[in-house]
Amino acid sequence: MTDDPRFEALLDYLTRTRNFDFSGYKRSSLVRRVQRRIEKVGLKDYVDYMDFLEVHPDEFIELFNTILINVTGFFRDQVAWDYVAGEIVPQILAVKSKRAPIRLWSAGCATGEEAYSLAIMLCQILGLEQFHERVKIYATDADEEALAHARAAVYTEKEMDGIMPELQEKYFTANGDGRFAFRQDLRRSVIFGRHNLVQDAPISKLDLLTCRNTLMYFNAETQSTVLNRFHFALNDQGYLFLGKAEMLLTHANLFTPTEMKYRVFAKADRSSLRDRLLLLSKGADDEPMTDTSGKLLLKDAAFDIGAVPQLVIDSAGILAIANDSARESFGLNQRDVGRPFQDLEISYRPVELRSMIDQCYTSRQTVKQSGIARHTSAGQVQYHDVHVAPLIHDSGTIIGASVTFVDVTSAHKLHLELQRSNKDLELANEELQSAHEELETTNEELQSTNEELEATNEELQSTNEELETMNEELQSTNEELETINAEQRELTNELNSANSFLNATLACMSSAVIVLDLSYKILVWNPRAEDMWGLRQDEVTGQPLFNLDIGLPVLELKDPLMALDDRDRKQLSFDARNRRGKTVKCEVTLSKLLDPKKHFEGYILLMDER
Ligand SMILES: C[S@@+](CC[C@H](N)C(=O)[O-])C[C@H]1O[C@@H](n2cnc3c(N)ncnc32)[C@H](O)[C@@H]1O
Repeated sequence: MTDDPRFEALLDYLTRTRNFDFSGYKRSSLVRRVQRRIEKVGLKDYVDYMDFLEVHPDEFIELFNTILINVTGFFRDQVAWDYVAGEIVPQILAVKSKRAPIRLWSAGCATGEEAYSLAIMLCQILGLEQFHERVKIYATDADEEALAHARAAVYTEKEMDGIMPELQEKYFTANGDGRFAFRQDLRRSVIFGRHNLVQDAPISKLDLLTCRNTLMYFNAETQSTVLNRFHFALNDQGYLFLGKAEMLLTHANLFTPTEMKYRVFAKADRSSLRDRLLLLSKGADDEPMTDTSGKLLLKDAAFDIGAVPQLVIDSAGILAIANDSARESFGLNQRDVGRPFQDLEISYRPVELRSMIDQCYTSRQTVKQSGIARHTSAGQVQYHDVHVAPLIHDSGTIIGASVTFVDVTSAHKLHLELQRSNKDLELANEELQSAHEELETTNEELQSTNEELEATNEELQSTNEELETMNEELQSTNEELETINAEQRELTNELNSANSFLNATLACMSSAVIVLDLSYKILVWNPRAEDMWGLRQDEVTGQPLFNLDIGLPVLELKDPLMALDDRDRKQLSFDARNRRGKTVKCEVTLSKLLDPKKHFEGYILLMDER
């Protein structure tokens, strides 16, 4: 949008009356082009111009010609065409059967050079017979005048610039008037039609779509619409060939560059992208992990259970039983059995068993202490869960206590290790989390840098397109200037030859001829006048006649000259002295100089010596 509602109103008017919607064109260039027309027809603003368009329907054609810049050429950007011919066409052919049709579209074909370049390229690769059999080239443009030129297929020598001489000879015939016609038999495979890329449905099933230096006139939104249509128009293995300012930076989902340098893109396979995403999401269904360590522990415990050290203390506090494992583990011997339990080290080390026994008697329940550490003579640490259970007779009387030491060393160590690992894990987790946060920050920064880069890139792209657009505008202005120059040269030549003719005529006249402008200054002074009065043409041109010092009483001519009317012709006679000093009778005929429209332009004086 521009800020100027009057410009928008003009675009609206064009859409309504001409069914041509320019709202998707880049405003800067559009405004420049319209402005140019407004200046050309000598108006001030958009409102005046809209009135002018209403009264002069022909101005629409001029306006469209100015907006729809038709700059083009055969094999424009030759290296890109070489790439398409050498790399892309062979790939198109490789996926086709030998007789399958090949369909191409030159969208925005202007005056047809691009479409005929396609024809020449295909014919060079396939040979004439295959070309006739298989190739169809659709060539479209929104500009009817350009299409008429394209259909005629006749080009000037200058327009033929991009074609190598051997191709010129092979594909064109000279018309004899300095112009060249594209071969009729090949011309039949090129179908021209009016098509508006912004408004009309695309041609389909294409192998190659060239749309060069046209997208760049559209704004981003319209480019996107057109590109979506192009995606639809192409076969799955089709290619898009753009102009050098057109990079498709923001349409990676539709086209992937085959060779960015030459702006050739392959149609992106949207479905495969979807499949890839599906596959990726399937990969997330991991098998649940199986943890066997618990079972192993249980197994270990089950195996170990027979080896649990056990003591029995009777109600009088005497050690009544100590099993092998207990004796071995705590350095007891048979003599210790029968001794007061409190006299034995085991009663208070590694754990205070006496209070546990008291507790169990009081509560009549098993009392437990877990993870009791004990340093062995070998310098190792063992861990036990100590259970003190009351032994209760059927009568309900407590007859003693059973003390068992369940060796939980490995479990305890595991627990400690787990605790350590847990701590490590926690630490690692924290580190991971902080790394993750850093990564996220970096990611965000990268993303924002990326976005900035993308925006800059897009700006650059748009500037690039803008520059290219201006370039084309300049090129088109240049072409116009060249035409004007040629016309001027022709006019100058005509003038020169008219001048020569006039001078020759004046030179041949036997009378002296003097022509004056309205202020009596000398415009023409022929050779006979030089001869009579002895002054050269270059000495008198631009001088007032009445200032001349010659043998004629020039001042006496003033009144008769002023008194002349349009149809009047006056003859006067004077005594005069010619250049040789001889006294002569000089007859002077005076008449007015009138232009073809009878406008008074000056005076003609004819002088004869008698
Ligand atoms: C600069 S020329 C490019 C010609 C040729 N493709 C080349 O690169 O040499 C741009 C062409 O696009 C055409 N054009 C502009 N707007 C169009 C539209 N909406 N639909 C179809 N053609 C359009 C113009 O008429 C003009 O002929």
